[in-house]
Amino acid sequence: MARKILVTSALPYANGSIHLGHLVEYIQTDIWVRFQKMQGHELHYVCADDTHGTPIMLRAEKEGITPESLIEGVHKEHSADFAEFLVGFDNYYSTNSDENKTLSQNIYRALKANGKIATKTIEQFYDPVKNMFLPDRFIKGECPKCHAKDQYGDSCEVCGATYNPTELIDAYSAVSGATPVRKETEHHFFKLSDCEAFLKEWTRSGTLQGEAANKMGEWFENGLNDWDISRDAPYFGFEIPDAPGKYFYVWLDAPIGYMASFKNLCDKNGLDFDEYWKAGSDTELYHFIGKDILYFHALFWPATLEYSGYRTPTQVFAHGFLTVNGEKMSKSRGTFITARSYLDHIKNPEYLRYYYAAKLNSTMEDIDLNLEDFVARVNSDLVGKYINIASRTAGFINKRFDGKLNPSADNAVVAELKSAAADIAKAYVARDYGKALREIMRLSDLANGFVAEKAPWVMAKQEGQDAELQQVCSDALEMFRLLTLYLKPVLPKLAVEIEAFLNIAPMQWHSVEASLSAQHAINQYNHLITRIDPKAIEAMVDSNKANLQSTEAPVKADAVKTKVPQEQAAGDYIQIDDFTKVDLRIAKIVNAEHVEGADKLLKLTLDIGEENTRQVFAGIKSAYDPETLKGRLTVMVANLAPRKMKFGMSEGMVLAASDESGGPFILSPDSGAQAGMKVK
Ligand code: MSP
Ligand code: ZN
Repeated sequence: MARKILVTSALPYANGSIHLGHLVEYIQTDIWVRFQKMQGHELHYVCADDTHGTPIMLRAEKEGITPESLIEGVHKEHSADFAEFLVGFDNYYSTNSDENKTLSQNIYRALKANGKIATKTIEQFYDPVKNMFLPDRFIKGECPKCHAKDQYGDSCEVCGATYNPTELIDAYSAVSGATPVRKETEHHFFKLSDCEAFLKEWTRSGTLQGEAANKMGEWFENGLNDWDISRDAPYFGFEIPDAPGKYFYVWLDAPIGYMASFKNLCDKNGLDFDEYWKAGSDTELYHFIGKDILYFHALFWPATLEYSGYRTPTQVFAHGFLTVNGEKMSKSRGTFITARSYLDHIKNPEYLRYYYAAKLNSTMEDIDLNLEDFVARVNSDLVGKYINIASRTAGFINKRFDGKLNPSADNAVVAELKSAAADIAKAYVARDYGKALREIMRLSDLANGFVAEKAPWVMAKQEGQDAELQQVCSDALEMFRLLTLYLKPVLPKLAVEIEAFLNIAPMQWHSVEASLSAQHAINQYNHLITRIDPKAIEAMVDSNKANLQSTEAPVKADAVKTKVPQEQAAGDYIQIDDFTKVDLRIAKIVNAEHVEGADKLLKLTLDIGEENTRQVFAGIKSAYDPETLKGRLTVMVANLAPRKMKFGMSEGMVLAASDESGGPFILSPDSGAQAGMKVK
């Protein structure tokens, strides 16, 4: 039975470029969407730019343009990036639209009529120079716990403490530098605490992944706070009905942007909006999101829908975060890579789609883009295994048989490939793309084994083997067709090129049951893809490092923290307890010497005020003459488990700084510090 399905990806902020982290989500969703469409379901995939809020307003002001023109430029840029990565939205809209304004205001009115809105006067920081209230992230000052300077109003990046901006010492406005004053203002709240019973039920009814449901449990234990949904002018957003000067907080109208984008599609294509959104709808609604915005999608959003007369999501699918080479994307390492920069250097978007698919599963685990592994995996799987099947056989059919096929009636490998369809489909449905691709590559190995065993290139040189040569190559191309079909959700553009080469209609999932028939003529085989040159990766990373010097850093790093309620920030930070586990001490280097046979190490003898000295091997030989180290103070980790090294025991670690530009530089305390002092 054809199902009716509406799918969304989270709406990217309109204040920055799409980067490889974002693409995890859009590629994950797009693969699922393409797979479901191949099943013949009626599916609509919508998204939009998330355009409102203070950061966008201030950025436009800084650039001397209106927010409208800022978001218009970004909309073009995002649309082009997504199109080139083959992310096939049925509609890519904007939250700054008439549809969204009407829906947001109506939903607010409905919530109010349902007794779910309260107003409360609160005190907030106000910038007296700029004449605006300041979001927490726009207030800076000294951390109340560790006294680090220039920390944000919600948390300290040095010690990890979270607090209220009122606790900051010597607070100042990040917008004007002025000292903020406290000012009263009336805010509108969504009474989330009233929705607890509904939300407990909803979050446990199979709408969330197991890990996400557990996370909910923690949030319920802490109790649900009412949600502040209003902001004071000046604010780039929608005005709240009957509340002049008050605007909806961006996170109220952002998810309504899903509905608005769909509404816009309905008006263009004659679809029935209510059929998908009215309470009790029997269509399906799925949201793909990153784990950082679970709170919004698993609590605020279903509650908003439930109490304003709409249906709630069928399921919310959260994925993990992207790391590059095992670490957070980093501007200084050149691994903060934009979609555009990837396209400029690597060109082919399907390599990244393939790699992400190979790494993705249905959990919220982070996924790593290891650049070396990326090159190796794409070159060996796609070029070495998959495309190889066609490149070793198609030429014979083209040259010797005028493009005509003559497959065998019962090839065992073809039969095995066909019988795998159901399992591969199951893996796609479950978003376990890694599993689907492992199976597809196993089948590619079988197909290659078949070609290698039959060795058509040997037959081609022998008399009287034409019929068999044609049959072997035809069977291999049938295998190639099936593999192409299985890979089509991941590699949609390549699949279209191969359909043209095979001279067949666009494949749907049921095309598994079809076959290339005798006498069917294929077209000329042209080389389909090439290996990735590792030099292109190097150039990409280098150019991202280079950009750092010339352009201002993208805003995303801050934006992540802005949108996350404090409960969620925990994953990104270590807690103070984690930090205090590390016993850092001032150490005096009483002796330093070369180690025979070690290229990098110096042997240090350290005094940390205990009876015995510590012996530590440190990899600093390239930068220090041991004589110059004797007598100086540094910092060591005193409680690192002792390690037996080739040259003896190492009983701790000396701290040193380094990166591509130089080092190591060992750390020194200010004058006055004494050996043995604890560093905290
Ligand atoms: N505007 C909000 C979403 C509103 S939805 C009603 C937002 N925007 S975002 O641009 O910061 O992120 C868009 C999506 O990309 C989110 O689902 C987010 O989790 C995802 N990602 C952003 N950076 C990411 C990584 N580094 N790794 C994986 N996904 C990431 O949040
Ligand atoms: Zn601090």
